[in-house]
Amino acid sequence: MKLTVHSFCTVALFTAQALALRPNIPSASPFKHRQGLRKPSRLSSLLINPDAHPNLPTSDAAASAANAANLNLDDIQGDILIGMKKNQELFYFFSILDSSDFKPKLASDILPNITSTSQLLDVSKQPVTMLNIAFSATGLSALGVDESLGDSAFAGGQFKDLRSLGDPGSDNWVPDFAGTDIHGVLLFASDSQDNINDAVFELESALGGSIKKVYSLAAAARPGSQAGHEHFGFLDGISNPAVEGFNADQAMPGQARISSGTILLGETGDFGRGRPAWAKDGSFLVFRQLKQLVPEFNKFLVDNPIVGNGLTREEGSELLGARMMGRWKSGAPIDLAPLRDDPELGADPLRNNNFTYAHADLDLSTDQSRCPFSAHTRKTRPRADQGENLVTQIMRAGIPYVSDDEAAANTTSTERGLAFVAYQSNIGNGFRFMQQTWANSINFVNPGVGVDPIIGSLAGAERVIKGMDPSNANQTITLTGNNFVISRGGEYFFAPSLSAIASKLSV
Ligand code: HEM
Ligand SMILES: *[C@@H]1O[C@H](CO)[C@@H](O)[C@H](O)[C@H]1NC(C)=O
Ligand SMILES: *[C@@H]1O[C@H](CO)[C@@H](O)[C@H](O)[C@H]1NC(C)=O
Ligand SMILES: *[C@@H]1O[C@H](CO)[C@@H](O)[C@H](O)[C@H]1NC(C)=O
Ligand SMILES: *[C@@H]1O[C@H](CO)[C@@H](O)[C@H](O)[C@H]1NC(C)=O
Repeated sequence: MKLTVHSFCTVALFTAQALALRPNIPSASPFKHRQGLRKPSRLSSLLINPDAHPNLPTSDAAASAANAANLNLDDIQGDILIGMKKNQELFYFFSILDSSDFKPKLASDILPNITSTSQLLDVSKQPVTMLNIAFSATGLSALGVDESLGDSAFAGGQFKDLRSLGDPGSDNWVPDFAGTDIHGVLLFASDSQDNINDAVFELESALGGSIKKVYSLAAAARPGSQAGHEHFGFLDGISNPAVEGFNADQAMPGQARISSGTILLGETGDFGRGRPAWAKDGSFLVFRQLKQLVPEFNKFLVDNPIVGNGLTREEGSELLGARMMGRWKSGAPIDLAPLRDDPELGADPLRNNNFTYAHADLDLSTDQSRCPFSAHTRKTRPRADQGENLVTQIMRAGIPYVSDDEAAANTTSTERGLAFVAYQSNIGNGFRFMQQTWANSINFVNPGVGVDPIIGSLAGAERVIKGMDPSNANQTITLTGNNFVISRGGEYFFAPSLSAIASKLSV
């Protein structure tokens, strides 16, 4: 396992020495004065960093990139730019009961504990438990902020938008998402659930009756070597865009390089109109609880292996899964490894994103022998098919969850899935466009190819998908309803800058 940031090494050595010399002093006290932190910091990162993921920039590299681009990483909430690297996370959805009680507490109890981007990049500055906050449109309203943020999807909320997303209705939705009563979400992240529980306890005690918890979802990186893999078993979070002013100058081959304004409001490349000045450096957070039917997915692969090409039945099943996703379980892209997984390629960030779906000897507009047009990664980032569309980009920051609903359901049933989180400066150009116009369209990226077999949805109707068989692209597979991923709903939020919380939302 590689290190998340290089300063980890220095910190660990420094601490080891300090401890050896002064064994009776609490381990973190040497940093207290040096960092000016109120509380002891960490000895190891709260984030995961699978080999296949590009490293986060060091805090020095990010600071100099940010400086050159005039981006203030101290003012941007930490979750927005770091991607799918959380170890343990709790999504705590709340409703504001008394805004005149809540506002001063937002300023005095929440704001000082919100983790910024710069803090997260330096292990010695990371808190024990990271805290971020975001508000729904009704939440901003509850705070007396009724100005438009220039995003109609956000303004209406996700419940109103569910048909556009292809959800069959709200029957499968977590009841608390089916409405507009959720005012905000607190994101707690750490490397242990105990740390998170402590932080929740502290914050709940401080906030008292000013808010009430509506719903929460605990999520965690999967254990051991599955860390970073979603529940179907595929490594996730490999291909997040590199952002100007943060890590664009360290982009890996094939990684998209986007303007900061694609993710952050009010920055270069944000084409949104009518944003109030205080919204600058905030980002829209799309949350979706996407339930995954893992045994059903596996059974489908076992029952429908791709035959031929000298593959065993088992290999044919693996290949079908890889062609549905666009990558093998290791993360190796099928465009570069069309018939068998190549774990070395999967684990190499210099190579595992270095493809466009175009090949000199193949016709880009018709050939699906290497990767189906409908594959999840090709639907959500068509690369050469679209001449590299740099506007429809999101920063994915989700994490797998396992939620035990047994008590409420009265039956033995453990739900698992992806706590999907995406950041963007315009929901209609980001998540919503990918889901509605790309994943759910049978005619994207070419006529008749079918929907994305992982997330594509036609309001519960049967889905006919082409391109799965590399030697016969006209061969179809038919999926009944949304076989493997079920939307349990979610909400649209706005994750403001720290200064917006100080100067606008808490006053
Ligand atoms: C349970 C649901 C989902 C699962 C299991 C899933 C799984 C994956 C996996 C395994 C990858 C490949 C790793 C990578 O390239 O980083 C991936 C990539 C991606 N996914 Fe998903 N995903 C889900 C939902 C979504 C949704 C709802 C969206 C947006 C509407 C989305 C957008 C993307 C994007 C943009 C990429 C990167 C494509 C690229 O840059 O090549 N995913 N997903
Ligand atoms: C803020 O963080 C500090 C340091 O971790 C913690 O001691 C304190 O309880 C937190 N405050 C609230 C209100 O959660
Ligand atoms: C990336 O792909 C290009 C074109 O296929 C190739 O020339 C280059 O060597 C690759 N880069 C790495 C680091 O493998
Ligand atoms: C579970 O059982 C309790 C007690 O009989 C009942 O009140 C509740 O409605 C049941 N819940 C569901 C989802 O069936
Ligand atoms: C697939 O269908 C198209 C259009 O009907 C046809 O032109 C093409 O030859 C078919 N390809 C195969 C491999 O059957």
